[in-house]
Amino acid sequence: MMVEDKHFDLTGKRIYVAGDTGLVGKALVRALSERDVTTITASKAELDLRDQKRTHEFIADHKPDVVLLAAAKVGGIEANRTLPVDFLYDNLMIASNVIRASAEHGATRLMNLASNCYYPREAEQPLREDSLLTGPFEPTNEAYATAKLAAMRLTQYYASQHGKGFFTLVPTSLYGPGDHFDDERGHVIPALINRFHQAKQNDLAEVTLWGTGSPTREFLYIEDAAQGMLHFVEHYQGTEAINLAGGQSISIRELGETIANIVGYQGALNWDTNKPDGMPHKALDSERCFAYNWRPETSFNDGLKQTYRYYLDYVAAT
Ligand SMILES: NC(=O)c1ccc[n+]([C@@H]2O[C@H](COP(=O)([O-])OP(=O)(O)OC[C@H]3O[C@@H](n4cnc5c(N)ncnc54)[C@H](OP(=O)(O)O)[C@@H]3O)[C@@H](O)[C@H]2O)c1
Repeated sequence: MMVEDKHFDLTGKRIYVAGDTGLVGKALVRALSERDVTTITASKAELDLRDQKRTHEFIADHKPDVVLLAAAKVGGIEANRTLPVDFLYDNLMIASNVIRASAEHGATRLMNLASNCYYPREAEQPLREDSLLTGPFEPTNEAYATAKLAAMRLTQYYASQHGKGFFTLVPTSLYGPGDHFDDERGHVIPALINRFHQAKQNDLAEVTLWGTGSPTREFLYIEDAAQGMLHFVEHYQGTEAINLAGGQSISIRELGETIANIVGYQGALNWDTNKPDGMPHKALDSERCFAYNWRPETSFNDGLKQTYRYYLDYVAAT
């Protein structure tokens, strides 16, 4: 299936990136720096997007043509479990304020981001767009998923009720320069890089990881994802949320071995099989997004090397 292409030209546009200090936001700002556009940003200290009045004032003042909504309260399982009010309230407020203010102050395009956790826990893998709402969420991220679902619907309703070019992308798990290397957000690639780097520095004879290593996960390089997001802003005319996928699916065991190799850790890698494995597989179906003539370009090995380079330059060195 190939889809008819109606191009929305970004040239000369004023583009607001909400959440520009995050993994996605930073990559969007980098990708936009190669384009002939005006990029608008504001840190959380300048503009807390939970504040409806300030968000409307900011968007009214700057009048962006395009809004890329990459601001969210993000966290791992433990944070989601213990702070469900924060995950639901903050994310509902951020998304509602930005989407409504963008609509009221003249933005013609808005890209919102959902995530793979808003699909039902038991849905068939790889997760297709039409599996949404066919079953309950994974309980450990229910609050986050509820906010993501509501925000997705709001973009869709602005499209249907007001004819706005607003839409939601559902990226698969992302990794790359700008990622967070603490364990808190539960991002496995930066956590493993940190773990093996520390083990190498401290001459540890072995590293033990949780589970059997057999589950598979899909990862998309952040620079490819940012280019993909701009591609969909330019080319996607639909109102249905669409996956941004086609990353590398790999077992956690192979991932551990690959990262140990890139980091240069030569000790033993053990698996504590008494610890839980989590979902056996997690990936997003890419058929629809590939029909829009988009493909990721970076090999997994290159992406991991760039990520380790970033870690050495900006995380380990500080
Ligand atoms: N990373 C992934 O693998 C992935 C996969 C699928 C979807 N997504 C989606 O992509 C979006 C961005 O994720 P990310 O990984 O880039 O997250 P991130 O690195 O945690 O960045 C989040 C951004 O939002 C900002 N923010 C948080 N609360 C705010 C508030 N109240 N007011 C203003 N700004 C606020 C943060 O500012 P501070 O830095 O100042 O806190 C930061 O700039 C999220 O919607 C997420 O669901 C991410």
